[in-house]
Amino acid sequence: MKFFLDTANIDEIREANATGLLDGVTTNPSLIKKSGRDFFEVIAEIADEVKGPVSAETTAPDHETMLKEGLKCAAIADNIAVKVPLTMEGLKTCKALRAKDIMVNVTLCFSANQALLAAKAGATFISPFVGRHDDVGFNGMELIEDIRIIYDNYGFDTEILVASVRHPTHVLESARIGADVATMPWDAMQKLFKHPLTDSGLAGFDKDWAATGFSIL
Ligand code: G3P
Repeated sequence: MKFFLDTANIDEIREANATGLLDGVTTNPSLIKKSGRDFFEVIAEIADEVKGPVSAETTAPDHETMLKEGLKCAAIADNIAVKVPLTMEGLKTCKALRAKDIMVNVTLCFSANQALLAAKAGATFISPFVGRHDDVGFNGMELIEDIRIIYDNYGFDTEILVASVRHPTHVLESARIGADVATMPWDAMQKLFKHPLTDSGLAGFDKDWAATGFSIL
């Protein structure tokens, strides 16, 4: 399972990348706003830092303009995945960009039928938003299960990119279901490393080791 960071903060990306466990980055207009930086400058910097796919989101509502935006985003670097919304115009744009062999991440997916359409449009990634689904009383993980079943039924190779991840349980459930990617904020990724028994176990070993007076180096 791949781990992407959902951020436009280059410092967080560098920290995550230093673990050797970062497979890509997703951004969106809200994250670009939060970064306070120029869109093209920050996307280019992220794409240079990270080897894997870096999602850059289009903003136009209509296919023609969205396609121009997508081509401009894709020209930033070879590892850009153009993000388009799950609308009819977005899927037209997905099809056109895929015909040019440009990676496409179809975002704002909230139903399995929408995910089916995105796969038929040749999407590289489908981004179902589990956290926002949970927020309005649905079960985001059931959506991931349904998409996994449908994609496996028909052999679609669109990768399920679980988005709007809020906590480690979302990551665990995604892995159990067999989602391809989870994109998460840096604070959620850091929580994956943590367990209180690891901390207390380490403290006990440190104390006993100090009492032996030995040194490995
Ligand atoms: O980037 C898309 C998605 O991950 C957004 O997450 O936390 O704004 O619902 P969130």
